[in-house]
Amino acid sequence: MTGKVAIVTGSTKGIGLAIAERFAAEGARVVTTGRSGGSIALDLRESDAGQRLVDYTLAKFGRIDIVVNNAGATKRGDFLDLTDADFADGFALKYFGAVRLTRAAWPHLKRSGGSVLFISGSGGRTPGAQFTIGGSVNAALLSLTKALAELGVSDGVQVNAVNPGTIRTERMKLRLKTPQEEAAFVRDSKVTRIGEVGDIAALAAFIVSAEGRFLHGSLIDADGGATKTI
Ligand SMILES: NC(=O)c1ccc[n+]([C@@H]2O[C@H](COP(=O)([O-])OP(=O)(O)OC[C@H]3O[C@@H](n4cnc5c(N)ncnc54)[C@H](OP(=O)(O)O)[C@@H]3O)[C@@H](O)[C@H]2O)c1
Repeated sequence: MTGKVAIVTGSTKGIGLAIAERFAAEGARVVTTGRSGGSIALDLRESDAGQRLVDYTLAKFGRIDIVVNNAGATKRGDFLDLTDADFADGFALKYFGAVRLTRAAWPHLKRSGGSVLFISGSGGRTPGAQFTIGGSVNAALLSLTKALAELGVSDGVQVNAVNPGTIRTERMKLRLKTPQEEAAFVRDSKVTRIGEVGDIAALAAFIVSAEGRFLHGSLIDADGGATKTI
């Protein structure tokens, strides 16, 4: 990745931080971001945040090769308790934040022959009653991936999505608090194990590498077998 410039959103912690660290270890120059810090602190729900992130990256490095749309924070809970505001907030960050950043970065990715990667989620293909917002947002991102992949064929931009299953991050620890709860989850969901952030980072690094280039419009489950459908 030497010489490449990557933007990774939601990279102050969790999966995004692991992807940013992996890309940097492979020689990329990485722009990290979150509300609380990174190279530039931004709230991606704000309508000009994507453009500001692109402007910052161009001012600092002069090019963009990779955009990883990872930031997301959708609320779980009973459908009847979730409000319009909860749905709007989930879409504002993970869907519209990704749309705006990708639109602002696209001409530069076209110039560099770059890559876009969406970190979606297994809930996009396997919905659940406790995850109506996240599942809907992730499904929308999978559709966007396929649509932009078609554009990417003519523009020379690689576009893919990864669907993580349950990955050990702060978000997961809100849900599975003890080793016993983790073990019960693994058993009941019939998965091999809880994922680690490094599992997703390694996959992301492969997808955007020269060897991964034939992956295009691919919706890749990285979930220990959580997705049971074909
Ligand atoms: N962990 C899992 O099991 C799992 C499974 C499937 C899919 N995913 C997806 O993977 C992605 C990363 O998940 P994670 O578990 O690593 O999450 P996380 O640990 O909660 O990290 C979320 C990241 O997003 C940033 N962020 C949150 N709100 C933001 C906002 N309004 N504007 C800009 N940045 C914001 C956070 O930074 P600040 O707090 O500094 O803003 C943080 O860097 C998410 O899209 C999630 O849906 C995760």
